Amino acid sequence: MSFKVGVIGATGAVGRTLLDILEKRRFPVSELRPFASSRSEGKEISLFGKLWRCQALKDDAFRGLDFVFVDVDDPIAKEWVPKAADAGAWVIDNSASFRLDPEVLLLVPEVNGDVLRRKLQKAGPLGIKDRILANPNCSTAQLVMALKPLQDRWGLKRVVASTYQSTSGAGAVGMSELKEQTQAYLQESPLKIETFSHQIAFNCIPHIGGFSEDGYTSEERKMMIESRKILGLSDLKMSVTAVRVPTFFCHAESVNIELEKNFEMDEVRKALSDFSGLTLMDDPDQKIYPMGFSVAHQDSVYVGRVRRDPSLESGLNLWVVSDNLRKGAALNAVQIGEEILANQKKN
Ligand SMILES: NC(=O)c1ccc[n+]([C@@H]2O[C@H](COP(=O)([O-])OP(=O)(O)OC[C@H]3O[C@@H](n4cnc5c(N)ncnc54)[C@H](OP(=O)(O)O)[C@@H]3O)[C@@H](O)[C@H]2O)c1
Repeated sequence: MSFKVGVIGATGAVGRTLLDILEKRRFPVSELRPFASSRSEGKEISLFGKLWRCQALKDDAFRGLDFVFVDVDDPIAKEWVPKAADAGAWVIDNSASFRLDPEVLLLVPEVNGDVLRRKLQKAGPLGIKDRILANPNCSTAQLVMALKPLQDRWGLKRVVASTYQSTSGAGAVGMSELKEQTQAYLQESPLKIETFSHQIAFNCIPHIGGFSEDGYTSEERKMMIESRKILGLSDLKMSVTAVRVPTFFCHAESVNIELEKNFEMDEVRKALSDFSGLTLMDDPDQKIYPMGFSVAHQDSVYVGRVRRDPSLESGLNLWVVSDNLRKGAALNAVQIGEEILANQKKN
């Protein structure tokens, strides 16, 4: 069986990665309908050896589609996601527009895929909100992947995370800005600052998203609120600092965790390495630990620098690195689609 698939934002950083992943994982696509802005109308997109023309969005755009992957900014997603769901498609949304809607599932399949499976097995017709499935923020996805095996075995008391986020997290324009500023800086030419709040070349910026009154940025708030929803821990104590760094791919996170129960380090390593989708890369004597440079374009979430925090009774430090365009966005979306394919027969 194969399916008619729409991709909104097919020309963007996440959309292009998603098309690559659909092909690599052989997602059963009989027809692709790529959507982008009117600037890209008519552009050819290749998938499974065929070329498909990019279209602009219009009201009957989704007729007959089984799946719509949404990889555009929040305001566009907010308008078009319900229309795609209303047209009968499963809509897997990478924007933040519906993540906190209590009727919409926010999913990382390895962590809380069970809630989706339960919904798919539920008797009765599905409503529009049932057909919308939200992907978390890229930094949230890799964080909850590392936290889940610890939660299951020892319980989570408190999490403090600091991020080192690549420019691709801000989309294709973020990467272009880093490249252009780096070239201009080295040639001692004036720099153009458009996407980030300051120069990103040779700089780290502790500011992703807008600031709220409590001093946290929207990116930091997303990581805290979304992690609690995915882990099902509405009271989890968390504090996050999100920093943009001058790299192209992968987000890194320094994560300090206070667990509910005492642990043995060997058991922690085993729990992390046994968890599906996580790879333990931790041999400091051999200079082995995850770095964006070495794990870019990989599917796994990598964990290294695993060590006890001696300042707490049950404290642990981790260094977590993952490709934000893959597990942080496109791969996670395709995995949600795969869960639907694997379970919808029982629906
Ligand atoms: N980048 C990440 O690491 C990441 C991770 C998780 C979630 N997300 C979320 O995923 C979404 C896409 O991010 P991105 O990084 O891929 O952004 P991007 O590289 O800027 O791509 C944006 C896409 O939106 C399309 N678009 C713009 N205006 C449109 C319109 N009016 N109608 C239809 N399509 C339109 C663009 O088409 P044109 O090429 O024609 O302009 C392009 O395909 C965002 O909501 C983002 O927050 C991103």
